[in-house]
Amino acid sequence: MAPILEARRLDKSFPRAGGAVTVLQGCDFALAPGENVAIIGPSGAGKSTFLNLISGLDAPTAGEVLYDGKPLTGLGPDGWADWRRAHVGFVFQFHFLLPDFTALENVLMPARLRGDSGAQAAGRALALLARMGLADRADHLPGELSGGEQQRVAVARAYMNAPRLVLADEPFGNLDLQKGRELADLLLSLGRDEGSSLVVVTHDLTLAARADRILELRDGRLAEAPAGLS
Ligand SMILES: Nc1ncnc2c1ncn2[C@@H]1O[C@H](COP(=O)(O)OP(=O)(O)OP(=O)(O)O)[C@@H](O)[C@H]1O
Ligand SMILES: [Mg+2]
Repeated sequence: MAPILEARRLDKSFPRAGGAVTVLQGCDFALAPGENVAIIGPSGAGKSTFLNLISGLDAPTAGEVLYDGKPLTGLGPDGWADWRRAHVGFVFQFHFLLPDFTALENVLMPARLRGDSGAQAAGRALALLARMGLADRADHLPGELSGGEQQRVAVARAYMNAPRLVLADEPFGNLDLQKGRELADLLLSLGRDEGSSLVVVTHDLTLAARADRILELRDGRLAEAPAGLS
């Protein structure tokens, strides 16, 4: 199957006084439609940098990113933002929920941002919250939810606009092992039901093993993780 997302020969270095820091060097990547890929690698290996490059939040020093075979590189900040709004959901280590809005309103936010606040959107938001086990927390403010519940709201929000691609950077990093694994199961099963693709960065090899494929970022490149990990 033709990949939904591809990165070709990505290089990234950060210029700094005293010498540039090279993070990625000739990094290749291909993600199939509906595929779940986990990315592992030591701290500072460039995992967050890689997610930033494939979503246009940062620009590569060289190389290109393609979506459905078409180059995204060169779109410019507004073009990338339009593309993200239409096709990508994000989950971060910190939930970034809006503190003055209820769980339901937070999940609805991506729909509102594209001008859709009808009953159908509200129905989908409620269904996603229910799927996350939060049917009875829809009118709670983030401050009235536990850390794990907050992160589940953030997952529901990421899927609100039915993105074809979800990018998650250490989404379980702040949760205890048990809560993190519960959330990983929810994230993976929701992604599979929605038919979307997922790229998830995690330090937890047990979580990574639940994805379809594990890639390791090392020395600036992505490679299949050594056998025995998956
Ligand atoms: N804006 C920047 N300027 C200079 N160096 C940077 C910048 N952003 C990141 N780096 C460097 O790039 C390297 C990769 O950073 P990155 O955040 O991608 O790592 P990571 O694999 O996500 O690590 P972690 O597991 O700790 O989150 C680090 O050595 C970091 O210091
Ligand atoms: Mg990181």
